[in-house]
Amino acid sequence: MTTTTGHRRLGEAPEPATLDPAERLSVDELRTLQLERLRATLRHAYQDVPHYRRAFDEAGVHPDDCRELADLARFPTTSKADLRENYPFGMFGVPQEQVRRVHASSGTTGKPTVVGYTQGDLDTWATVMARSIRAAGGRPGDRLHNAYGYGLFTGGLGAHYGAEKLGCTVVPVSGGMTPRQVQLITDFAPRVIMVTPSYLLTVVDEFEKQGIDPRSSSLEIGIFGAEPWTEQMRRELEDRLDIHAVDIYGLSEVMGPGVAQECVETKDGLHVWEDHFYPEIIDPLTGEVLPDGEQGELVFTSLTKEATPVIRYRTRDLTRLLPGTARPGMRRIERITGRTDDMIILRGVNLFPTQIEEIVLRTPGLSPHFALELTTRGRLDHLTCRIEARPDCPPERREAAAAEVATAVKDTVGASIEVLVVDPETLARSVGKLKRLHDNRDRAGE
Ligand code: DLL
Repeated sequence: MTTTTGHRRLGEAPEPATLDPAERLSVDELRTLQLERLRATLRHAYQDVPHYRRAFDEAGVHPDDCRELADLARFPTTSKADLRENYPFGMFGVPQEQVRRVHASSGTTGKPTVVGYTQGDLDTWATVMARSIRAAGGRPGDRLHNAYGYGLFTGGLGAHYGAEKLGCTVVPVSGGMTPRQVQLITDFAPRVIMVTPSYLLTVVDEFEKQGIDPRSSSLEIGIFGAEPWTEQMRRELEDRLDIHAVDIYGLSEVMGPGVAQECVETKDGLHVWEDHFYPEIIDPLTGEVLPDGEQGELVFTSLTKEATPVIRYRTRDLTRLLPGTARPGMRRIERITGRTDDMIILRGVNLFPTQIEEIVLRTPGLSPHFALELTTRGRLDHLTCRIEARPDCPPERREAAAAEVATAVKDTVGASIEVLVVDPETLARSVGKLKRLHDNRDRAGE
């Protein structure tokens, strides 16, 4: 494989005969299937989940009102707060004996949100996850190193059963114990790795610390998600490991990983597996449904879920819907640039951590490890960005690099931030999802 610096290297498409039949549906065939499944899901939610019956009744809609896909917009949306209010099992639509597994997302505040899976749901999940790994370039017989966390988080087990279903040999490492990750990759020689992009950076640093060139590893494909990352980060990971880096998206409330996947032969955003998950984009302020192509908040309705069907779930993730390419029937979402709740409003200017990531990664001398801290100075919010220098960055370069980042943020985003370049290996590392932003603002007087 050659280096990608400056241009984009693409991977090999799967043989058409190995695709799931749904991946080959035309848009029209898919819409017919979606309408049928949507109507069944609305009926199931209304009949079997008291929350939905109440919410539909309050909104004056009934499942029979859904005659075409556009009618979905008349139904109320569902939020994380609805799931919390029904903690732990109030959103379940099947008797407990039919629930084979639960997962929960920790959430930063309050109670976790709990989701359930019947055997049918677990089969569906493994199917879409296997489809995702194949789209990423994984093949039956591949060894796959799974460093997503196992447990209540959906990443580990979701990836695990999908990989087994595709016919891969799974190495179920989970996150953490970084020196051992390097040892297992070196000794077991996997072709595919699944991990958060931020934790992979930690693993790559560990390779270098042990004097092993990460480009010499057996890895050819990385399937990265669970947190936002940028094109610049793709280039960094592809170059440092000599791999294809592709994006995987999902959320526990809708299923887990494998809701949408980028195809390695196009690397142009993520195909939503629309036979199981129906996407909409809404204006996050008004709730109005926006046409394809417009940026807004992603909303999902499950089309086949039995244990915890979800109607118009507001993900808070910002993106837009684009027509299908590698799988022409299925729409794509653009790489997710941030969540509505990750947005920093700095003296009236909106800023996402990914915008800073792009700038940091194109500034010579700076590593991808950076942390953001919000504080209060006087009566104003202040954002400090601490970035680790790359180990080979000469000390005299640091100040200039810091100034370049501050200027670029001012020029492109319009916000004034403080940038400090710090020693390598001084910022906290993630073993799973990275927490980029630390909010230490003075809350007194609120
Ligand atoms: O993070 C599921 C997952 C596991 C996806 C492994 C991909 C790989 P939750 O913990 O419920 O589930 O968090 C879901 O994570 O709403 C997004 O804000 C964010 N997220 C997930 N994938 C991506 C991605 C898992 N590829 C929340 N890009 C979602 C950006 C992502 N953000």
